[in-house]
Amino acid sequence: MTAETQMPTGQDLLSEIDRLRKEKNAIILAHYYQSAQIQDLADFVGDSLELSRKAAETDADVIAFCGVKFMADTAKILSPEKIVVLPDMDAGCSLEDSCPPEKFKAFREKHPDHIALTYINCSTEVKALSDIIVTSSSAETIISQIPEDQKIIFGPDRHLGGYMSRKFNREMLLWPGVCIVHEAFSETELLKLKQQHPDAPIAAHPECPPTIVDHADYVGSTSGILQFAETFEGDTLIVATEPHIIHQMEKALPEKTFIGAPGADGNCSCNICPYMALNTLEKLYKCLDTLEPRIEIEEGLRLQAKQSLDRMLEMASGTIGQGDLGRV
Ligand code: 13P
Ligand code: SF4
Repeated sequence: MTAETQMPTGQDLLSEIDRLRKEKNAIILAHYYQSAQIQDLADFVGDSLELSRKAAETDADVIAFCGVKFMADTAKILSPEKIVVLPDMDAGCSLEDSCPPEKFKAFREKHPDHIALTYINCSTEVKALSDIIVTSSSAETIISQIPEDQKIIFGPDRHLGGYMSRKFNREMLLWPGVCIVHEAFSETELLKLKQQHPDAPIAAHPECPPTIVDHADYVGSTSGILQFAETFEGDTLIVATEPHIIHQMEKALPEKTFIGAPGADGNCSCNICPYMALNTLEKLYKCLDTLEPRIEIEEGLRLQAKQSLDRMLEMASGTIGQGDLGRV
């Protein structure tokens, strides 16, 4: 697209994205928290573990990552020979922001007898300082393989870490990070909603605080929640995670009703991830056209970060990308 060329709109924009995808031999990967339009045109939509696996195995020349930066970084760490573009480089994550590498390094040094089990929602530098990366769908499988007497630091999500710690009845040193999106659900409003729909089960992501997770009938990753949506008995489900995931549920099960769990004002718009929302169809078109902005990672750092990601992929090899964390 030159300065004079106009940004296509409507159906033309979708056709142009499709043309560029073929021309550049690109694969479009999208997370479930992306807009419905992005999810619908992506080659693959998945949770963090599934997207990492897809990035590692694709034979496309270009990965256009519709998600947040740590996800695109992960794709580049696992597929360094590919061009990885992210529609908006400002698509960050509050969990990544909560964990500056120098502070994490100092914390690790204070606890030399602990291994660092780190949620994938972190920077490449923090991955390089970690022993094993986990996602919400692989955390349980991975922790179950770590000897009981091995001390663990879990970062940066204290809610996922706390949930795992309770589930395994195992003490862990928790980094105090939170996801601003899952933190915004309100227990009071959730209970009011539950009163209106007493038969509707609640499915929650483990990034939610215990005040939400403790009311859930199912706790799991985005893929796990989708699987639960396909199998629960009844006609209404309350969904406590980022509401764009409901698009997949409504497509697969049009006869059922899916209600996003509310935030403190009783309206769930505060649970839309502001970082994920930075990616738009227009920015996707532009980045496929110009192959910018690109993810670049210094090779030494990449190799260090890859070790902890490879351990995750190896240790999670039995899991199929669906969380089934169940209730504590
Ligand atoms: P999963 O899709 O792995 O459950 O992760 C959710 C999330 O918050 C990604 O940022
Ligand atoms: Fe980060 Fe939360 Fe947004 Fe996921 S939903 S990208 S954890 S801020």
